[in-house]
Amino acid sequence: MPTATTTDLVSIEKMNLNFGNHEVLKALNLTVAAGENLVIMGRSGCGKSVLAKCIVGLVQPDSGSIRVLNESILSIAPNQLNALRRRIGFLFQSGALYDSMNIAQNLAFPLRHHKELDKKAKRLLVEEALTHVGLAENYYDMPSSLSGGMRKRIALARTIIIKPELILYDEPTTGLDPITALEISELLISIQVKYKAAAIIITHDQACARTTANRILVMNNGAFIAEGSYAQLMQSAIPEVQALVHP
Ligand SMILES: Nc1ncnc2c1ncn2[C@@H]1O[C@H](COP(=O)(O)OP(=O)(O)OP(=O)(O)O)[C@@H](O)[C@H]1O
Ligand SMILES: [Mg+2]
Repeated sequence: MPTATTTDLVSIEKMNLNFGNHEVLKALNLTVAAGENLVIMGRSGCGKSVLAKCIVGLVQPDSGSIRVLNESILSIAPNQLNALRRRIGFLFQSGALYDSMNIAQNLAFPLRHHKELDKKAKRLLVEEALTHVGLAENYYDMPSSLSGGMRKRIALARTIIIKPELILYDEPTTGLDPITALEISELLISIQVKYKAAAIIITHDQACARTTANRILVMNNGAFIAEGSYAQLMQSAIPEVQALVHP
């Protein structure tokens, strides 16, 4: 039987996940359309990062189905999962850079499995990604010499260097001042335009959600409780939604 295909880059159905007797994700359904920036908002501990990890196969749900870039994550062979991950960018919540490597080495790290790229091609990709985030001058710097905002930009550059078809950003603006956070949000939009990538953006940052979202899902206790544009969510009568979107 041919495998069902869809134009959605991510399609999750009835996904449940428990850690012990803690129900973390409850019957989640989710789709991400081509080219879309989908924002997921929700209070701390509601399951956002776990959801992101399920999408790239780092955490296995107990039941449900997850299709990503037309592959079924729960039945994929390990070597195919590795190949699939090379098409997905993941900005981890911790976003850590390798302190013992300079910026260029940090950026080249995700390219180590790309045997088709020679040294010169890798260097060009590093330069392109650094230029995109406005830090071309910092090629040889060490991460410890950069500010928090610059480190975040470098982590973003590392995420996009593989030219991913799908990008997961977990709290891309946390810990930054409002102006720097807005610059990062604008970078996310420029990445969407330049790479035509679809993205899931997990954030508590209202300005980031307002700026970057084509659509927003609100998560509460492991379930989605609202969906819409920021303006639509502002009208929601649900207290948990109001608490997230009203300044
Ligand atoms: N590996 C794990 N083992 C057991 N429990 C876990 C594990 N990872 C996450 N959890 C629990 O699952 C729940 C959801 O965690 P998750 O990290 O997804 O929250 P979050 O919505 O990303 O929160 P935050 O906004 O603070 O990052 C939490 O109660 C957390 O303690
Ligand atoms: Mg999290």
